[in-house]
Amino acid sequence: MKIAQDIHYVGVNDRTKHRFEGLWFLPAGVSYNSYIIADEKVALIDTVDVAFFAEYLANIRQVIGDRPIDYLVINHMEPDHSGSLALIRDKYPQIRLVGNKKTMEMVQGFYGAASADDVVVADGDTLALGRRTLSFHLVPMLHWPETMVSYVKGEGIMFSGDAFGCFGALNGAVVDRDMDIAPYLPEMERYFAAILGKFCVPVRNALKKLSGLELRMICPTHGPVWCEKVGEAVEVYRRMSHGESQKGLVVCYGSMYGHTRRVAEAIARGAAEAGVRKIIVHDLSVSQPSFVLADIFRYNGLAIGGPTYNGGVFPVVEDLLKRLAGRDVKAHKLAWFGGFTWGSMAVKTIAAYNEKMGMTPVGEPLEWKQGTSADTLDRARALGRSLGEAILA
Ligand code: FEO
Repeated sequence: MKIAQDIHYVGVNDRTKHRFEGLWFLPAGVSYNSYIIADEKVALIDTVDVAFFAEYLANIRQVIGDRPIDYLVINHMEPDHSGSLALIRDKYPQIRLVGNKKTMEMVQGFYGAASADDVVVADGDTLALGRRTLSFHLVPMLHWPETMVSYVKGEGIMFSGDAFGCFGALNGAVVDRDMDIAPYLPEMERYFAAILGKFCVPVRNALKKLSGLELRMICPTHGPVWCEKVGEAVEVYRRMSHGESQKGLVVCYGSMYGHTRRVAEAIARGAAEAGVRKIIVHDLSVSQPSFVLADIFRYNGLAIGGPTYNGGVFPVVEDLLKRLAGRDVKAHKLAWFGGFTWGSMAVKTIAAYNEKMGMTPVGEPLEWKQGTSADTLDRARALGRSLGEAILA
């Protein structure tokens, strides 16, 4: 599929994988994007998950027929993109891999497929393909330490790796101008929260570094090619990497018999009374973590709670706390709550996690013993009001 002069999309859709990285729910699939630049030299940009190799090879041959491929540019080594690398090398034995020093170490480590003929590039190096030249720009930790982007000088086209990518298979069209992008922007936020949420500082560094490049088209490794909406895609990354959020509240709870749920709902009620209009309540035994994380990135208030369980806090609550402690999402107002039957540990455990999460506490943690009394629910509502006022302040 041609996306620009001499540049073609040769990626594939994965509509059967249930969880990306074995972790993140994929209700609408995911695409693995790869591109061919068919200039005087032929360059393939990244590959696809190896499970799709036959289809991928057919896509390549539909574009270039029997022409050889001169270069395989590897922007990112995670196997959803490098998985077909060794098989491509088998099919095109003369191909030269193009990557930085760290990339080549991974090529050898993952696939034993490095060659003395490969082209090792450093930051800012270029590669002439004929009518156009590629330049390479290292963007470490976006998403792995070897990650780089490739840029077509003069045409403003950037092959960006995971950056500006999103969940969701491509439904017919590849370029944003040819589709309804509405489903993809929230999926970009969910992708960022799940995959890149730990790396906000490297993302900010990369945005600063790449800001000198004119961008007319961004070709990521997942989701639509951004052309008309380049600015919107960059804005999602700018906003999320700077921790900018809307005024709103996410209430997250785990509950076995409904006591914690009632407290969670009373907190939500209090926040609504304080005037908060965007409130989302997640039962963590039901909601998928990536959707919860995306909501937490989106709104500036969080209430989290669960019962004491096996000397700690209820497992689905601790799972979310661990995920938040490993992400850069600090500029939030936080209230927490937890009940116990004979030994109190839930609120202490949440407090300990917030030492790493670094959110701003609001009010006193709400704790109760055994059943939720009317007084407990009144205190929950008051805590919700205080949190709501802090969110709107
Ligand atoms: Fe889509 Fe970090 O791989």
